[in-house]
Amino acid sequence: MKILVVGGAGYIGSHMVKRFGQLGVDVVTLDNLVGGYRDAVTHGEFVHGDIADRTLLDRLFSEHRFDVVMHFASYIEVGESVRDPAKYYQNNVANTLTLLEAMKDHGVLKFIFSSTAATFGEPQYVPIDEAHPQSPINPYGQSKLMIEKILADFDQAYGMKSVCLRYFNAAGADPDGQIGERHNPETHLVPLILQAASGRREAISVFGRDYDTDDGTCVRDYIHVMDLAEAHWLGVQRLVDGGGSASFNLGNGQGFSVQAVIDAAKRVTGREIKLIDAPRRDGDPARLVADSTAARQQLGWQPQYADLDTIIKHAWDWERKHFN
Ligand code: UFG
Repeated sequence: MKILVVGGAGYIGSHMVKRFGQLGVDVVTLDNLVGGYRDAVTHGEFVHGDIADRTLLDRLFSEHRFDVVMHFASYIEVGESVRDPAKYYQNNVANTLTLLEAMKDHGVLKFIFSSTAATFGEPQYVPIDEAHPQSPINPYGQSKLMIEKILADFDQAYGMKSVCLRYFNAAGADPDGQIGERHNPETHLVPLILQAASGRREAISVFGRDYDTDDGTCVRDYIHVMDLAEAHWLGVQRLVDGGGSASFNLGNGQGFSVQAVIDAAKRVTGREIKLIDAPRRDGDPARLVADSTAARQQLGWQPQYADLDTIIKHAWDWERKHFN
């Protein structure tokens, strides 16, 4: 089996590539290194380039017979997507369409897509299952939903089979400590808290304490990055076995408040973490929790690192090893 991993030098993609190394699966990573790191790619061949480059895609699809393409390369910041939607629609939609067209033209008809809880928008109920209406409230979520819709049409018209995986809050790091989360700028809660714990950052802002939740802070469903990687591998097997297109929500089904994550980080690190109470961040729903029953039943997915302290410990090991 041979797999093209687009965005394999980024946070989630690099954990996927590492998992393929453990599984002995042949991989080519294509990454423009805008958000990724060459040294995060620990297995297989690396190609520096962009999916907007159709000539490069034609060359890659001619040189290799890929069974499946995985696509992790996208911009992911909700706030930035509101300020600069063109960037999101260009990269996340137009460039992805270039990739999908190249696949179609070369007869590569299996695709695993990184989608997001942001395609649901403000939840009408939690936990959120696949039947929940998709009504994004920002260009980032829109851009991912557009690709989900394009994929449905590509299946209908060209027989391209896809698995869309809607991540809730990806967190944690490779348990071996070899790779981890390195966004620049970092906007995600867990790494920011750990930067505050290690002294790389003065304090962590808590965005809102007046939400309708138990302690007033936002509730999210944190899912270990290696468990996400495993779901992708199960998605590959589904498609290779001739399974049809499907979408799955990926989370642990358990919500933790921002304050609960901070408390867990204090426990795990044994450090003080300085807090600043800040106003709500635009576009943050109070609660986002996944119902992943479908992934468990249809993919056989079973998260191995569901415990929040374990997720934080792996991220902390990475923070200390890499940055200190
Ligand atoms: N938060 C803080 N302080 C910070 C950073 C975050 O209080 O400094 C809070 C946020 O307000 C939110 C929670 O911590 O309540 C988690 O925030 P993240 O930025 O870590 O994650 P999000 O839930 O905003 O985003 C994640 C993905 C996005 C995706 C979104 C779906 O990272 O790509 O879920 O809603 F779009």
